[in-house]
Amino acid sequence: MSAIPDNQELAVCGWVRTRRGSKNVSFVALNDGSTVKTLQIIADHQNFEEETLKRITTGSALQVQGHLVASGGSGQNVELVARNIEILGDADADDYPLQPKRHSLEFLREIAHLRPRTNTFSSIFRVRHSLAFAIHNYFNQRGFFYLNTPIITGSDAEGAGEMFAVTNFDLKDVPKTEDGEIDFKQDFFSKATNLTVSGQLEAELGALALSKVYTFGPTFRAENSNTTRHLAEFWMVEPEMAFADLEDDMDLAEDFLKYLMTYVLEHNNDDLEFLENRLIEEEKAKPQAERSAMKLRDKLKFIANESFERISYTEAFNILRNSKPNRKKKFQFIIDEWGADLQSEHERFLVEKHFARPVIVFDYPSAIKAFYMRENEDGKTVRAMDILFPGIGEIVGGSQREERYDVLKKRIKAFGIDEQELWWYLETRKFGTVPHSGFGLGFERLVQFATGMQNIRDVIPFPRTPGNAEF
Ligand code: 4AD
Ligand code: MG
Repeated sequence: MSAIPDNQELAVCGWVRTRRGSKNVSFVALNDGSTVKTLQIIADHQNFEEETLKRITTGSALQVQGHLVASGGSGQNVELVARNIEILGDADADDYPLQPKRHSLEFLREIAHLRPRTNTFSSIFRVRHSLAFAIHNYFNQRGFFYLNTPIITGSDAEGAGEMFAVTNFDLKDVPKTEDGEIDFKQDFFSKATNLTVSGQLEAELGALALSKVYTFGPTFRAENSNTTRHLAEFWMVEPEMAFADLEDDMDLAEDFLKYLMTYVLEHNNDDLEFLENRLIEEEKAKPQAERSAMKLRDKLKFIANESFERISYTEAFNILRNSKPNRKKKFQFIIDEWGADLQSEHERFLVEKHFARPVIVFDYPSAIKAFYMRENEDGKTVRAMDILFPGIGEIVGGSQREERYDVLKKRIKAFGIDEQELWWYLETRKFGTVPHSGFGLGFERLVQFATGMQNIRDVIPFPRTPGNAEF
């Protein structure tokens, strides 16, 4: 704020972060969540009832009327001299868990209903909002249509079998067929259904009509991986383009990620600065060698400005097989035979040690990727691509889709999928099929990167993980 306030009359609402002062005057830091900054309220004790002053405690909600003046103190440009204070909601000092001191992220996870009131979490959720807004902006400006794909589906798009069932059966009395199997014909949708693991298959139907579409919605995976990068409920952005091959797909993904980093750097500087300083404090506890060489905002600028490395799986495999940690058996999973899936330790070696920049790995062995990916001439690899980010590993997974009817049919069979269940998907390859491509960006992994948070549970308001669905 650069304009000098001219005794402007103002009414503000917010929650008390801290209160300090002397016998005669109180300084109250008020925050309403619109920014990481607080507004300093000056309350001259002689203007207020003692009863009112007593109730101004950390966590309480106030409405304050007064006039804005230039501040003499350091740390703020302006402050509000209170004329009237209304206590909207008390917060008993003996009970309120968010007293002004440093709390561990683990503790704050247990009070996810209150943690948005901290500077750390309000900053994270403002950055999260900004990124979501930027995603819609990006695609809207480029002629992509936002398509809502179903959350309840009958298919397993990724074929990994990590699905949550959806049913309205009475679980104590599930109808059975004569063979003793569950009789899904009697279930709500007259078939077995689950929560979607990806909107891709339906997004493809959209792209084969509207040319460019994207989905942005919740996705559910019942994978029992208790890692810092997995959630059971996460949000995924999935653009899909007709008349586009894998090169176009990689170009779009790289441009998109650069745009998002530029957007938050421009729109969320206060929050990023706060989070950056928070990380610097956190890192002081670590030995020098483990500290990050780059500050948070420099990392985001690096993504925005530097080109990504693009290598085939086979090239990545050769680099990894000949790498020092592989030869010295430092990797938990030794890279030995072509065809092995890359683990996060390998991804991080490529990104953080070998190339020191984001890496796009393409043309993966077909055996470790999904049925819908386009087969290469070599018969061994498919037109897949993963984007690997420092500190995160895989942030994007995408591919050129198999548009040839016969090849797709063959792949569906080879993957042991019932063709009947995908009749509608196959039909698009019979009627005006065209090359098309798309990818999925894990939204929380993006927010993790942008905020520097180590644990994915800290970048979604109410995380769902194995054993945890509180709030
Ligand atoms: O690589 P995935 O499984 O790809 C797909 O689902 C494709 N259908 C996408 C497409 O081509 N349209 O998932 C895409 C991304 C991953 O790269 C990762 O960032 C994120 O989604 N992701 C998860 N994020 C949080 N928790 C999980 N359990 C995740 N699983 C995947
Ligand atoms: Mg993947």
